[in-house]
Amino acid sequence: MESAPNSTFNHTTDLNTAIDGLWDRLLLWGTIVFVVVEAALVYTIFRFRKRPGGAPAKQIHGNVALEITWTAIPALILVLIAVPTVKTIFQTQAPAPAGALTIEVTGHQWWWEFHYPEYGVTTANEVYVPVGRTANFVLRTKDVLHSFWVPQMGGKRDLISNKTNVMWFTPNPDLGTNAYNGFCLEYCGASHANMKFRMFTVQPDEFASWAAHQARPALPYDTAATAAPAVPPVTVASAAGTPAPAMAAPTLGYVFPASQLPEHVIPQTPLPARLQFDDALLAQGDAKRGETAFMMGGCIGCHAINGNPMALSNVGPNLTHFASRHTLGGGLFPNDDHHLARWIKNAKALKPGAQMNVIGIGEYDPILKGPVTAGLTDAQIADVVAYLRSLK
Ligand code: CUA
Repeated sequence: MESAPNSTFNHTTDLNTAIDGLWDRLLLWGTIVFVVVEAALVYTIFRFRKRPGGAPAKQIHGNVALEITWTAIPALILVLIAVPTVKTIFQTQAPAPAGALTIEVTGHQWWWEFHYPEYGVTTANEVYVPVGRTANFVLRTKDVLHSFWVPQMGGKRDLISNKTNVMWFTPNPDLGTNAYNGFCLEYCGASHANMKFRMFTVQPDEFASWAAHQARPALPYDTAATAAPAVPPVTVASAAGTPAPAMAAPTLGYVFPASQLPEHVIPQTPLPARLQFDDALLAQGDAKRGETAFMMGGCIGCHAINGNPMALSNVGPNLTHFASRHTLGGGLFPNDDHHLARWIKNAKALKPGAQMNVIGIGEYDPILKGPVTAGLTDAQIADVVAYLRSLK
């Protein structure tokens, strides 16, 4: 799997086991037919070729036994192909088994929204699935046609306007904690190639922890995390003998560990050289000021943050637990301060056609056809970076 990280010839789920099993079977039958037919052809060509001084060929008309045979054998072969094919179609198109985890997938130009109705979780571009439980992907699009594909897991299936498609599979329990690339496979505009996502297979208890935390408000607003942590805070006896409460560490949910990310899921997209940002400003970024800038700078026009009563829009990706994600910009860049600052400053320069507004003052805005005047300074962008980084 490591040598071909986007290969589709895997048996990692019930879906790709069924599909690849069918492929192997058809390949075997096809190979047998090819060898037999070619051998008969080559034999006939040599055995009955025209020889100098040879007798004229025997003239015949019709051979009932032969004609029945050469009709019956292909018919039998077609049955041998049709039966497993139709069986596999019905198996993979059937409704998901009871107890499946529903994940509503919405394609946007050019990013992915994932909603877990059972847990009340909405996230973007990174989808967590527990091993051993069927994940039922309910596929819709907000705009044009897209197609959902995680090659290593099986698929793909289109997201079609005004229609709901469904695809389900069960990650094998032996996959353990692992990460995979996901792609859009239907041409959908300027950044079709930049519409990526990551899939994480995790253990059921890791998934439960992740989902429980993702369902809660973002950390600065999460009173449950700071006031009543799941684990009681350790108390230490003070010098006077009265126990003093220790600082209660906020309880965070499970996040796929950055140290375990395989090489092939880490984005390598280069940044445009002409986009300047002084990274030294990032050290002075202030989350509280950043929250204000986030609200004044127009970000709330598109982004929701659960817990921030001002940020309710669902036009762009939901940013509630943005800091728990490994990528940004539709899986295009690593989610670090260096890339995030530049993304906020001028997303259109980083990703062709990106629908996010150009925010950085002085940057060229193709919609305004001129430089941005009402936007954020680099110092303010550093504050917004600090704010988004606090959304754990
Ligand atoms: Cu979405 Cu291609």
